[in-house]
Amino acid sequence: MRNFRPGLFLPALALGAVFGVDVNAQPKDANYDESKVPKYELPDPLVLTNGQRVTSAEVWRTQRRPELLKLFETHVYGKSPGRPEKMSFDVKSVDREALGGAAIRKEVTIRFTEDPEGPCMDLLLYLPSKAQGPTPVFLGLNFAGNHAIHPDPEITLSKRWMRNNPEKAITNNQATEASRGSAASRWPVEEILARGYGLATIYYGDIDPDFDDGFQNGVHPVFYKEGQTKPAADEWGSIGAWAWGLSRAMDYFETDRDIDAKRVAVMGHSRLGKTSLWAGATDERFAIVISNNSGCGGAALSRRAFGETVARINTSFPHWFCDNFTKYNNNEDALPVDQHELIALMAPRPVYVASAQEDLWADPRGEFLAAKHADPVYRLLGTEGLPSAEMPPIDKPVMGAIGYHIRTGKHDVTSYDWQAYMDFADKHFGR
Ligand code: GCU
Repeated sequence: MRNFRPGLFLPALALGAVFGVDVNAQPKDANYDESKVPKYELPDPLVLTNGQRVTSAEVWRTQRRPELLKLFETHVYGKSPGRPEKMSFDVKSVDREALGGAAIRKEVTIRFTEDPEGPCMDLLLYLPSKAQGPTPVFLGLNFAGNHAIHPDPEITLSKRWMRNNPEKAITNNQATEASRGSAASRWPVEEILARGYGLATIYYGDIDPDFDDGFQNGVHPVFYKEGQTKPAADEWGSIGAWAWGLSRAMDYFETDRDIDAKRVAVMGHSRLGKTSLWAGATDERFAIVISNNSGCGGAALSRRAFGETVARINTSFPHWFCDNFTKYNNNEDALPVDQHELIALMAPRPVYVASAQEDLWADPRGEFLAAKHADPVYRLLGTEGLPSAEMPPIDKPVMGAIGYHIRTGKHDVTSYDWQAYMDFADKHFGR
């Protein structure tokens, strides 16, 4: 979203989040020196908490995987509720002649409760109009409203709260007509359609607006128990809620005959890359999971403390993770898990981790190493894992069951990234 460079320090403003500024995102004392990475020992994904080695797919499946999932729930992202009973899908529009005839465009409101005024999210869907039968789709949350992903004037302009951004014509925390298409460079809709995929997206703020309000807005209050006013220390924060929303989109896909719900790739950038990983870990219906520059609390190993650290992220963004995660501020070694084990939770499903050369804040090497240290689990489950023990050269993707690339350039999602994701999906969906 923002591109604060290392070295640029914004003083903390207590009201910054409310006015839509992420404060203290990249302080100047962050470590970018490989020689200052602390010595660390990673927990072994193939050793049970009781010390026993995991030597079969069966033990992974029935014991170690549930154990790891629970540890991530309890200590990192918090536990999320399941599918709400009274959820409903309201197909608002279907245009089979969208984008000059290239696409079917649908807008679907997914309501989380019976109340027509209650919390809901708006899904935008493009499918190739020439598709024969159900289409595989990429699903990703967006940062600036569905109308921002493409200049198509028929997309409903979001009225939700948004972080102010003059470049995206967002003022008074509201998008304007001039915001249309402002994030189009991150969503190559025509290319995706031309390759036979659909694209589904939702504004992440529909699920939970991205500022710390003590979880009064967004979806959390729907699930409070009698008398509860905020999530408990091991319950979902915003990342948990955003990932939960992705699962609710999947619930809808299962009802739409134009979509191949068995071939859905969930993709996200940055904080939404952390989110796509957590969605893929908690919901095995996602067939492929893609992390774009997700960094700390995403694909990057926490113990390296390179670039963004656990203490930093919990301080800048206290609402993203569960409260228990703050126990590991400046105390990464005490974490019962590290992020390679999050990647391993996707196994044996294909997972792709992408870094950017200039995105040191997200620790490209730490992202690669997490992918690499998930490899033993992928191999135990009979896949080819990550076919490279070393970090590959810039702009040279490696693609096994685990894929990885580091591309030229900064923290962003580019057409280069998308080409790799589509190649990866072609490989695994046998297209
Ligand atoms: C900040 C934050 C990162 C996050 C990024 C983003 O830089 O520190 O953890 O990934 O914002 O979501 O753009």
